[in-house]
Amino acid sequence: MEQTFALIKPRAFHENLTGPILNLFNTAGFKIGAIKSWWLSDREARQLYGIHQGKPFYEDLLTYMISGPIVVMVLEKDHAVADLRKLVGNTDPQKAEAGTVRKLFGLNARQNAVHASDSPENAEKESALFFAQMEKYEPRGISFGKVHRKEES
Ligand code: CMP
Repeated sequence: MEQTFALIKPRAFHENLTGPILNLFNTAGFKIGAIKSWWLSDREARQLYGIHQGKPFYEDLLTYMISGPIVVMVLEKDHAVADLRKLVGNTDPQKAEAGTVRKLFGLNARQNAVHASDSPENAEKESALFFAQMEKYEPRGISFGKVHRKEES
């Protein structure tokens, strides 16, 4: 089981697209390992998008990303990183394939509804910005009405 990191950007959150987007993630087989809403500060946005510093779109991207709350999450599935990138689609919604999240819910390259990590290393780094270790959990065979205790190491 691999983990990846995703976030729902300010416009998509504001327009109540969180439910439809999570539904697409769940339908594609992703389990939610951790989730919360968050309003990025300028400093946090610069940490998250540091690899894009100096690119022409960088400052506008930061301005947009701090403009309202977002939803951040850890998603789990075999091949989670690659499969989520495929489901999310091209950065530019106009170039994204039919059925992808950005084709369905994105407006343009900046307001493209979601972000998804591009590698397991970045997924780990981005998750760690928002979630403490104890906020993330491994699925452990939930059976309703019967208690499954977490195995302590
Ligand atoms: P995201 O997956 O969040 O990672 C970096 C973001 O930079 C990307 O999605 C886009 O929103 C944004 N971005 C990348 N290229 C461009 C561009 N050419 N114009 C505007 N924004 C861009």
